[in-house]
Amino acid sequence: MKVIGITGSPRAGGNTDTLLKALLEGGAASEGVETEAVSLRDYTIAPCTGCERCRKDLTCTRFYDGMHLLYPKIEEADGIILGSPTYNYNITPPEMKAFIDRLYPPYYRFTGVRPGPYSSFFTSLGRKALVFSVAEQTKPAERGFVIEAMQRPLEALGFEVTDTLPAEGYFEKRAIAGDSAVQERAREAGRRFARGLI
Ligand SMILES: Cc1cc2nc3c(=O)[nH]c(=O)nc-3n(C[C@H](O)[C@H](O)[C@H](O)COP(=O)(O)O)c2cc1C
Repeated sequence: MKVIGITGSPRAGGNTDTLLKALLEGGAASEGVETEAVSLRDYTIAPCTGCERCRKDLTCTRFYDGMHLLYPKIEEADGIILGSPTYNYNITPPEMKAFIDRLYPPYYRFTGVRPGPYSSFFTSLGRKALVFSVAEQTKPAERGFVIEAMQRPLEALGFEVTDTLPAEGYFEKRAIAGDSAVQERAREAGRRFARGLI
């Protein structure tokens, strides 16, 4: 069993990275699953241009960038964890949003009918996902759509999102590093996620 954990934070060693580490290292890995952490900021990911060449080519032939290094990792993982800091109520645009949009090419299977039914490479594979977010504000309204912005595309792609973990009240880069309770919550969520894969 393998879990890939993906952080969309541009800030290396910040709150999102720290929570991902807890989810993977103290969490999923301690249940015996293989884990890999990926920082989207380390990959060049061009935003989708809607050229639709992928409908024919079944992968992105518009850009040969970091996504082509990530596609095989995503395909081989039994579980995927996505995490993003909240940026103006939403996910980070050059990292997490571009990444999610670029899952469209190889994975969706469309019919010729528009609007019409669609499926995905992951439909019926039983893949599971967990999404988490970090925000400064503690009122849910100020967290905005960050969880939904990751959860809904994953569900459309055929993943079952078994858990969500919004972490609120963290602004400074190392705020979460000083909060052992939220890190333990993340470790427990990671363990639960791994047990759900087996
Ligand atoms: C451009 C920008 C926009 C932000 N927008 C929000 C927001 O809408 N709501 C919120 O609660 N926090 C917001 N924040 C705060 C971050 O979500 C918070 O600092 C988070 O801990 C950053 O995570 P990181 O350390 O992983 O980068 C924003 C921060 C930046 C830099």
